[in-house]
Amino acid sequence: MGDVMAEQSKPSGPDLTLGIAVSDLADGGMLQGHVAGEAVLLARRDDEYFAIGAVCTHYGGPLAEGLMVGETVRCPWHHACFDLRTGETLRPPALNPVPCWKVERRDGRLFVREKRQAGERRPTVVARAPNAVVIVGGGAAGNATAEMLRREGYAGRLTMLSADESAPYDRPNLSKDYLAGNAAEDWVPLRPATFYRERDIDLKLGARVAAVDTASRYVQLDDGSRHAYESLLLATGAEPVRVEIAGADLPHVHYLRTLADSRALIAKALTARRAVVMGASFIGLEVAASLRARGIEVHVVAPETHPLERILGPAVGAFIRALHEEHGVVFHLGTTATSIDDRSVTLKSGETLQSDLVVVGVGVRPSMLLAERAGLVIDRGIAVNEYLETSVPGIFAAGDLARWPDRLSGESIRVEHWVVAQRQGQTVARNILGQRERFDAVPYFWSQHYAVMISYVGHAERWDTIEIDGQLAARDCRVTYRRGGKMLAVATISRDRESLKAEVELERMIVQ
Ligand SMILES: Cc1cc2nc3c(=O)[nH]c(=O)nc-3n(C[C@H](O)[C@H](O)[C@H](O)COP(=O)(O)OP(=O)(O)OC[C@H]3O[C@@H](n4cnc5c(N)ncnc54)[C@H](O)[C@@H]3O)c2cc1C
Ligand code: FES
Repeated sequence: MGDVMAEQSKPSGPDLTLGIAVSDLADGGMLQGHVAGEAVLLARRDDEYFAIGAVCTHYGGPLAEGLMVGETVRCPWHHACFDLRTGETLRPPALNPVPCWKVERRDGRLFVREKRQAGERRPTVVARAPNAVVIVGGGAAGNATAEMLRREGYAGRLTMLSADESAPYDRPNLSKDYLAGNAAEDWVPLRPATFYRERDIDLKLGARVAAVDTASRYVQLDDGSRHAYESLLLATGAEPVRVEIAGADLPHVHYLRTLADSRALIAKALTARRAVVMGASFIGLEVAASLRARGIEVHVVAPETHPLERILGPAVGAFIRALHEEHGVVFHLGTTATSIDDRSVTLKSGETLQSDLVVVGVGVRPSMLLAERAGLVIDRGIAVNEYLETSVPGIFAAGDLARWPDRLSGESIRVEHWVVAQRQGQTVARNILGQRERFDAVPYFWSQHYAVMISYVGHAERWDTIEIDGQLAARDCRVTYRRGGKMLAVATISRDRESLKAEVELERMIVQ
């Protein structure tokens, strides 16, 4: 990623201080140039011109290849969104703004002038400020809520309690570059250590909440300490499903959810030679790819016929399988493991696979114990309304554990996507402050397999038609999932702008 960032930041295109002809930038157009060595995106909307940093602050995506939507630009890589007027980040996964410059139009030419003050929107007036906000969970949703509360001008007491020993980090990276050995340690934290202190966010690590008292409005940690709240967010995420077969508790059997899990896996991978990955889920397959990058022999064992078939359909599943096979992964599908010992894994078929490392990636279960004990309404997740409020006033839920009414599909859905958790966290922050914002974001996730990235917008638990435009084998396609003729979701490979356009199309369907 660091290399990619450096590459994207390299000056390319015209020197914008010298000016370009107005006619070179069509209405709705964007182009990349540079100013004093910095990559700058110049954009036009009607007769207004904007200049902001051209490199996305998430992983360095090239914003000039993204999509302009109104006065915003969306990143082609993972759909972050920036305000063209201010450079402010409006949508995760980017957390930081891009710089912003003044643009002058003179004698039929456009000149990019001095930098504007770094762009964060002025906080809106806080309609309702609770005395104390407690966030349970230091992951995607919890962190996004804490940050947005401060960005929105909330000045009251703000406590984030996380059972994790590490401050919030980039969880999706744990199965990708970080596990493959291609990401430096300092890419993983979402924020530097000083960030929370500077914003007066009381981040407590290794702080496991054991109970919520909804009548007296406090949470109790497992060490007995208490934190009173007026507004509470439950964002405890999900836990890996454990397998219960002989040998599952052996030390070389790993799960992957936390940074500590990823580090333990890396330590083992340094000496391992043959790995069995149980489960052909996104995480299982990303782990397989990362272990292959380390030169480890990898066998994937899973009950389905095609990996990822349930989410992406058989054709994409077959493509993903072929892709992994090309990289040397061996699949054992239509079967499961029945036992593990120090040196091997035995399958239902009786086959034995030699292995000194086992990684289990058979899905996750939302962490709802607190909510269940507190008597919140549960519906295959914590049930929330369109404002992400639970059944108990003052308590919100967001992220992997929340099931919300999705206006696009007309169903209540729960998803396990990084960006959705972050966007929900931001909505919760605004609603804690009385803004009554509906959570209407179109779900989005990405998954990386070697050089192939799959982007997915929308949500299709069931479909009756799959249309493939382009060719999977050529790694250039759009896959549309429909039910009753209605488009529910779109997966793309190497068609980043098309993915962004599909996202906008799905958003417009919600508004209607
Ligand atoms: C290895 C891996 C790779 C992934 N890759 C992708 C990807 O490429 N794209 C994508 O869209 N999604 C990906 N995901 C999924 C994504 O990370 C999750 O959807 C997202 O993290 C959910 O955010 P969350 O805030 O709900 O939960 P989490 O991020 O899991 O955070 C939960 C937090 O709650 C804390 N907690 C739990 N119980 C308690 C308690 N009782 N008291 C206090 N704190 C508690 C935990 O310590 C943690 O800090 C990946 C997940 C993993 C594990
Ligand atoms: S690089 Fe822009 S959103 Fe990830």
